[in-house]
Amino acid sequence: MKQTTLGTPLSSSATKVMLLGSGELGKEVLIALQRLGVETIAVDRYENAPGHQVAHRAHVINMADGAALRALIEQESPDIVVPEIEAIATDMLVQIEQEGLARVIPTARATQLTMNREGIRRLAAETLALPTSPYQFADSLEELRAATEVVGFPCIVKPVMSSSGKGQSKVDNAGEVQAAWDYAASGSRVNQGRVIVEGFIDFDYEITQLTVRAVGIDGNIETHFCEPIGHVQVHGDYVESWQPMAMSPLALQRSRVIAKKVTDDLGGRGIFGVELFVKGDMVWFSEVSPRPHDTGMVTMCSQRFNEFELHARAILGLPVDASLREPGASAVIYGQLEDKGIAFTGVDEALRVPASDIRLFGKPESFKRRRMGVALANGRDTDEARTRAKMAASKVVPVTGR
Ligand SMILES: Nc1ncnc2c1ncn2[C@@H]1O[C@H](COP(=O)(O)OP(=O)(O)OP(=O)(O)O)[C@@H](O)[C@H]1O
Ligand SMILES: [Mg+2]
Repeated sequence: MKQTTLGTPLSSSATKVMLLGSGELGKEVLIALQRLGVETIAVDRYENAPGHQVAHRAHVINMADGAALRALIEQESPDIVVPEIEAIATDMLVQIEQEGLARVIPTARATQLTMNREGIRRLAAETLALPTSPYQFADSLEELRAATEVVGFPCIVKPVMSSSGKGQSKVDNAGEVQAAWDYAASGSRVNQGRVIVEGFIDFDYEITQLTVRAVGIDGNIETHFCEPIGHVQVHGDYVESWQPMAMSPLALQRSRVIAKKVTDDLGGRGIFGVELFVKGDMVWFSEVSPRPHDTGMVTMCSQRFNEFELHARAILGLPVDASLREPGASAVIYGQLEDKGIAFTGVDEALRVPASDIRLFGKPESFKRRRMGVALANGRDTDEARTRAKMAASKVVPVTGR
């Protein structure tokens, strides 16, 4: 059996892990790594990002700048590089992996394919023949008009490079195409102007199937499935989630077959958030994140090991246990105001809600729809957990700081 060795942080034996992106998800991964005595390096594009506050060292760079990224990796020489966001110079990650400078999680190719909706959609639908919504790509308003006619109405227009619903709109008829094009251009991260048009799937519900690729006892990679997570999205951004999501046995089985196929292809080790739409027993693949998923924050109260701990263990080559502990739910706490250094009142009230907990991310600047924290709660079932989580979230009120 192959043994994994972990060193002492800040010594020559240290096991060093660098997080590229240090938001609320990266912060929890860093905390999980810290608990295993890993030396952690947090990178983000702005100062005092949530993960910066809990790592051994913090750096501010533009991670889309390949040269800057390489220079930092050479300077820090981490054993493992963990992308936590999509907007990274993934071509440079490919080089870094090829040169053996560091292990890239899960693989550099996976980060490349999933940063662009076109890469992952073509892989899923055309190479792996997974069921997806019908789709077309367009580079101009004229192409978009034609594409919407092929896909049909209603459809959804999204920039190929964007996340959290940015630049995304539902189009019900030809009269709305221009507005969707303009909105997509405003929400695109880079590479302005290329969009995907997806047929609208009238699903009963959507889930995140967290899927972990971890080293098994014989040294081979094993796939582990968490219980499915149900969630509600508003304007493409998650507002609440719960686990387990009740599903028909066939829909669950199909979800896991899809999750296995796509994660097998992306390879490497770590956790993946596979997003799926479900109607009756039918399941469509939507997209996949090769990293912890925002809707998976519920696992901080519902699983024996949360998604961040599972990721930390998997990337270090350690075994994982993806089992559910008890039903749980999460509800997002938004900034609600535009200011720096805000304060939160009502945390005491929130924590008086039975079986509740909260996380405040410590983001230095608040925006109205910025995710500043999350409320968690358990219950006899997910209905009770959801009610409690939403109640706890509603008690927390952001106010202007001193
Ligand atoms: N083809 C579709 N049919 C119906 N609903 C859709 C479709 N595509 C997206 N949605 C809705 O919009 C949400 C966000 O879409 P998607 O996951 O593609 O965007 P995103 O910007 O990657 O969001 P995130 O980064 O938060 O996952 C989905 O979770 C779903 O609720
Ligand atoms: Mg999504």
